[in-house]
Amino acid sequence: MVKVLFICLGNICRSPMAETIFKHLVEERGLENSFEVDSAGLIDYHEGELADNRMRRHASMHGYYITHRSRPVETGDFSHFDYIIGMDHQNIRALESMQPAGSRAQILDMASFLREHEAATVPDPYYGGDQGFEYVIALLEDACASLLDYLCEE
Ligand code: 4NP
Repeated sequence: MVKVLFICLGNICRSPMAETIFKHLVEERGLENSFEVDSAGLIDYHEGELADNRMRRHASMHGYYITHRSRPVETGDFSHFDYIIGMDHQNIRALESMQPAGSRAQILDMASFLREHEAATVPDPYYGGDQGFEYVIALLEDACASLLDYLCEE
């Protein structure tokens, strides 16, 4: 079982979208029994909330339904998950500073898996408009497919 945790700041836009897209790809390939997939945030401000309405609306326009409720990342995640994947450089730095020495998780940068798009990060869409949410979905579809290929080869 490969355990994958997606991380962003609030866990109401990018990482629950990444979790949903990645799970969809895993199911499409019939690999449900080989992967555990979750998401979490670096802040607990939205704990217990469903994903942002705008993110859910754009997700549904692409056939995705986000059911995740926001939760903050915790120390135990670094020993439970094999891969913890941040959406931007700030996420990566925060995760690296939280990681207990010797824990199992490998911290990865989501943007490093992009194949069809050139972008340094998966940018936060929270303070922007519709285009930002569409862009996040396009980036995450690209990066999730390539991440799944990579993990299947590992
Ligand atoms: P996310 O977006 O990190 O993609 O979930 C954000 C959601 C909420 C906030 C920031 C970013 N916030 O500051 O409340």
